[in-house]
Formats: sequence, structure tokens, C-alpha cells
Amino acid sequence: MRKTYWGTAVLLAALFFSCNRRSGPAPQIPLQDGWKFKPTDNLEFARPDFDDRGWTNIGVDKTWNKQGFPKYEGFGWYRIKVIIPSSLKKKAYLQDSVIFHLGRIDDFDQVFLNGELIGENLKNMPPGSKPNDAYKNLKYSFWDVPRRYSLPADDPRIRWDRENVIAVRVFDWGVAGGIYSGDLRIAMPEEREYFSLRFDRHIFQEKNGQWQKTLKIKNKAEKYSIEGRIRILVKNNISGKAIYQGDESFQLQPGTAHSFRYSLPKQQQSASAQYTVLFENSGDTLTFTEGVPYILTPPEKERPQINGALVYGQRPGKPFLYRIAATGRRPMSFLAVNLPEGLMLDTETGIITGKVNKRGVYKIRLIAENELGKDEKTLTVKIGDTIALTPPMGWNSWNCWGLSVTQERVYAAAKSFVESGLADHGWTYINIDDGWEIYGKSQEAKRTPDGEIRTNEKFPEMKKLGKDIHALGLKFGIYSSPGPLTCGGYTASYGYEERDAHTFADWGIDYLKYDLCTYRDLMTDQNDPKELMPPYKKMQKALAKQNRDIVYSLCEYGNGKVWEWGAKVGGNLWRTTGDIWDDWDRMFFIGFNQEEAAPYAGPGHWNDPDMLIVGWVGWGEHLHPTNLTPDEQYTHVSLWALLAAPLLLGNDLTRLDDFTLNLLTNDEVLAVDQDPLGRQGIPVIKEKNIHVYKKELSDGSAAVGIFNTGRATQEYTLYPEKIGIRRGVKVRDLWRQKDLGRLDREFKTVIPPHGVTLIKVSE
Ligand code: GAL
Repeated sequence: MRKTYWGTAVLLAALFFSCNRRSGPAPQIPLQDGWKFKPTDNLEFARPDFDDRGWTNIGVDKTWNKQGFPKYEGFGWYRIKVIIPSSLKKKAYLQDSVIFHLGRIDDFDQVFLNGELIGENLKNMPPGSKPNDAYKNLKYSFWDVPRRYSLPADDPRIRWDRENVIAVRVFDWGVAGGIYSGDLRIAMPEEREYFSLRFDRHIFQEKNGQWQKTLKIKNKAEKYSIEGRIRILVKNNISGKAIYQGDESFQLQPGTAHSFRYSLPKQQQSASAQYTVLFENSGDTLTFTEGVPYILTPPEKERPQINGALVYGQRPGKPFLYRIAATGRRPMSFLAVNLPEGLMLDTETGIITGKVNKRGVYKIRLIAENELGKDEKTLTVKIGDTIALTPPMGWNSWNCWGLSVTQERVYAAAKSFVESGLADHGWTYINIDDGWEIYGKSQEAKRTPDGEIRTNEKFPEMKKLGKDIHALGLKFGIYSSPGPLTCGGYTASYGYEERDAHTFADWGIDYLKYDLCTYRDLMTDQNDPKELMPPYKKMQKALAKQNRDIVYSLCEYGNGKVWEWGAKVGGNLWRTTGDIWDDWDRMFFIGFNQEEAAPYAGPGHWNDPDMLIVGWVGWGEHLHPTNLTPDEQYTHVSLWALLAAPLLLGNDLTRLDDFTLNLLTNDEVLAVDQDPLGRQGIPVIKEKNIHVYKKELSDGSAAVGIFNTGRATQEYTLYPEKIGIRRGVKVRDLWRQKDLGRLDREFKTVIPPHGVTLIKVSE
């Protein structure tokens, strides 16, 4: 076998060494270029002397699908030749191991060095699985995990100062595959790699009127101790002034951890914290930043205040359930004047139930009273064909529990709605997402002999759950798919639409999210409305036959411009995009791209840019506080309100912190979303880093959001005529619930990074 020295020479030339560890970057051997690829499987490819000259040159910055193998899935091999010079070790601060950083690999990999296995990514696989079983067991994928394999520096598999062959056997189980991103290199470990600073799991907690923050540091090394200092700098993002400065020194023995705390006065303006770690021995530094929560919504009043949508639709003869949302000191008593025939009010809880048979528009005077006073508002009830007159507000299990949802967790969410006070601001629906059905691959019967869909062991008493949720004055939602299986691989409604609609009604379901999932396998064109409409129409017809109203939520990720036909198949809301997750780029991409669908929103039919990603989220057992900064969360909620989007929380409601609760209970902001006119806000100005949205409201006023999508604080001047607003209108800051006077020539505002100024302008 002849060796190819050419590739080796190039890599050697690309070596970069620093001679001063305290100031320069750490030495490393880049592995970004020079890879060869073969889309088949053969363990011989691991051998260092294997002749790969006929293989394809391939980049590791994108999947193999984008480099000439568009449809390929399964096994593929990557090989590279590289000299590892002993100077790499000599110039490093930590010298006893060598790390192979191999970037992100979609989906699984085994790595060979000079023919010998040095690592494989099978973490989380069931014990006893062999690589091949594991690859074929489609339960987990590590497609987004950066690969980092470590060997002792004296490991005989490393050939110092000679050519080494790295061979990576990749298994892709579909969609896209291969080594596709990351900083691929060979390097000695850096001190900072053994150090962790956790601040993200320790949110700012309120303590004696202050925000208290815990920082946890850890030395993950088995042999080295790490010493250094952490500089803490908290700055106000509007004024740029320092709010807090601290300097903590640390000395961590191998495997030890240490926490320290600092406290700040509770903030009312955007702020951010920067933590700079200075490593004493290697001269390395690390910097972390995070947003500091700040409170905008004023404290709730003790006197009664009736909140929430004051227009409500129900079909004639269908069970009526409306919980008067009211804040204020308890006990509180409720009164409803002019209740139409067939309705009853529980004067202690404020829950109205019953049935109205006669179509019509009924104006009901609602009164909430406590020892400090009372509030009165008019509720317009429309008994007719349209439900969901305002965008649904509630909770869905997906963004927190994912497929680990259980009956207890759902009921706990319902209880928290009431106990936390969220229900007093209009939050109503408690929706189970995927994971309540029998798993498709399970041996268990999926349905009873007469075809009724069965719940899995995590939902022993679905009907009782419905009753308990209704008893709290809340509504109950569920999830299914028109395909044979749900996206999570659970039993779905294909062929059983009528049967399932009937079962759902029997369980007391008020809301169905119907997710395309495996129905896609039955289609020839996933974007053709002619193919998309029938399965959705079919379920809608089945729902219409039931003895209760069921809000119908279409989930097909916006395919075939669903907004153009969603209402025709009876949809009350439809997802306009793929899934959201707690990341600024993702939220930005979804939220700021809803313009095309805007004309199709209105009472009874809403565009759904997916759920809210605030609070503790995680799609499974392990939750984390949202990765959005407080400013990004203000942007998220403001934008969703301006878009008249359904507001479905996706967080663990039993873990609500002060900031999140404050964010979700601003009645003036929620009123923008719930405005009965049902207009979706649209962008009226788009400039670099500034987006201005305007939403017309039913009382002739408008809500205006000025978003700073840039990373620096920005001053902005809004000229009313530019967005069709008359000079002289009144301006109110909605988050602070404060009048700001009249808008004459211009409105000046300073907006924090990724933040928003949300105002209402009225005559
Ligand atoms: C996705 C859907 C998510 C969630 C998930 C459940 O298709 O967009 O919102 O419902 O399926 O498996």
C-alpha cells in the first residue's frame, strides 16, 4: 500500500504553535481540511495502510448530502492522515492527554486511530447494546453533540512525530448525515476544559426584595488543581452604568466544586451580567454573559379587577364553561347580571356553566367584589357557529415534558394555573401533547376490541382528569395525528377519526391538536393543499358531530400555506412553522416571519407560530430555564401578542419564578393579544436591527412594538406619520402600564439588545 504524503505535508504546514502560553492561543493541529469519504461500510477502512486514493475529497463543514450524496443514508467512512508532532505536547500547559475534537456528527460514530478504536458515541444507549444494534435502534441521536475523544499522551496508539490515520465510521439514520460542523482539531487539553461555571441552572431568585444569584464552579480534572479569579460585572443596558462589581478568587482541588453568591437590588431596567474567569496557571481566560431579570408589570392590586377576553363564543346546546378571570384579594364574590337561560354562575369561584340553546349575542354584566371594592365589566357571549373568538390561551405539555408527560404532571399544571394566579389573567387551556397513547411498537393492544383508543399507563384515568380540570374552571386539550402514528411513534387516529372524536368528547376534551406526522408517508406531495385538506376536513366533520365544542388546532408546520385554507377545513388555529425552541435565532426566525399569513387571522381562526418558550423547558425529564434572556422573553411575549398568536405556555408551571410570573400576568399586554377585533399585527418599519410592528385594536387604538433585534442597546426615534399614526395621540407604555404623554413630532426610546418597547397609541 502506498502512502499519500501530500495530504500529510499540507497538514504539517498548517500547524500552528504558540510559544507563549500566557498570551497566545493553545497549540493545535487543525483537522478542517484533507478528509476523504466513502459511502459504504467496511471495517477494513479503519486500517492505516488502507488505500483510500480513490475516495472522494469531502468537507466537514456540511453534511455529505450537500456534497454530492443527496439521498445517501446509512454507513459512511471518513479518513484523514496527519502527523502529530511532539512539540504539540511540549508547548502545552497540560501535557498528559491528547484530545481529538471531531465536530458534530450526524448521527453516530466510531473513531479509529491507526486501526484501533479510540472512541464511540453511544452515550445513553441501553446497556449491552453493540454499536450496530445501537445504530439501528432509532431512539437516540447525537447529531448535535460535538465529539471530543481523549487519549493519554503516552497511549501507544498515538504515533508521535509520524503519520497517523484517523478513520471515522459514521452511521446516519436518515434526513442528513456525516461530519457537518465544528472546529475539528487535535489539541492538548486546556485548563478551561476542566473548568465549569454553571449559572444557567441557578436562576436569579428573589430574596428579601433582592435578586440573589448563585454561581457554581467545578474542577472536573482528576489530577490538576485549578486556581484563578472570577470578575463579576453587572451593567444596566440602558445607561451602561455598573450596578455591581465583584472579584472572587478560587482554588479548586481535583474533582471539587464551590459556589458563591451575589445579590443585586431587584431591577426594573434591562441589565446583563458578565463573568470573566482568569486562570492563574495557564493564563487562559473565559467569559460568560447572561441577562439579569427585571420586572416591568406593576404589582397586582388588592382590589378586584376583571381580566381576560371579554368576548366568548360557544355553539348552541354545547356545554358552556367560562371562568371569570379576576385578580384581587380573596375571598371574592361574583355576580353575573343578564345570564342567558341555561347558564349558572358559581358565585364563589366565578365559574359559569350550563348550555345556551338559543343563538344570539348576549351581554352579561360581570361583577367581582371583595372587602376592598368591586369591578364590573361586560362579557359578550356569542352563541353561534364560531368558537375561539380570541386566540386560545393556555398550556401544552410538549415544551417541558415531551414524551415523558404523565397524568399527574398535567393535573399539576392545571392546579398551578389556579394557584399561581395565572388563571386570573385568562390562562385557560391545559393541553396534553404527544405521549398519552400506546406506543406503536409496543406489544400491547392499541385499542379496545371495539376500536376505542387506549391510553398508556401514564394516563390511567383520562376521563377523571378531564373532570378535575373542568372543576377548576379550566379547559382540557389533547393531541393526535391523521396518520397511523404520532410524531413520537404513538398510536394515532388514521382510520378511526370518528371513533376518536367520540372518545375525546366522552373524555371532556375541549381542544384537539392534530399533527400531520406519519400522514406524510401516505402523501405524494406534502405541500399540496389538495392532499393536505382531506385528512383535516375528515376529523373536523367528526368533531362537529360531537356533543361538545372542540377547538381544532391544525399542526402541519405551515405546509401548503395552511393559512390560505385552514379555515375551510374548520381549523380554529394552525401552525405556520416548524417547531420552536428556546433559542433567540429560532424564535426570531419564526416570530418575525409571520407577515404573509397575517391577513388570514381573525376571530375563530388564528395563525399559530408555535408555543411560548419561557420558564423551565426541556422536552423530557431534564428541564432547564429558557435560554432566552429576559429581554428576549419580553420580545417573545410582546411579539406573540402583537401577532394575535395563540398563547400556549410550554413550561413547568410548578416551577414558576417571580420574573416568569410577572412576564405572563401583564393584563394590558395580554389584552393586545386577546383584542376582540382579532387583527394580526404586521411590520410597518423594517430597518437594520429595528422592526416596528403595529396592531389595530377594537377601540380604534393601536399597539406598537419597537423591537431591537441587534446585539447592542439602541436609541430609536419613531415618527408617527411613518406608521400611519396621527400626531398628538396619547402614548402608554404597556409593560409598565404607564402613560407617557402625547406623541407630537416624534417618540424617542432606548431599547436594550434583543429587547422591545411596547406602547399603545390612542386618541
Ligand atoms: C411535532 C409538533 C410538536 C409536538 C411533537 C410531538 O410534530 O410540531 O409541537 O407536538 O410533534 O411529537
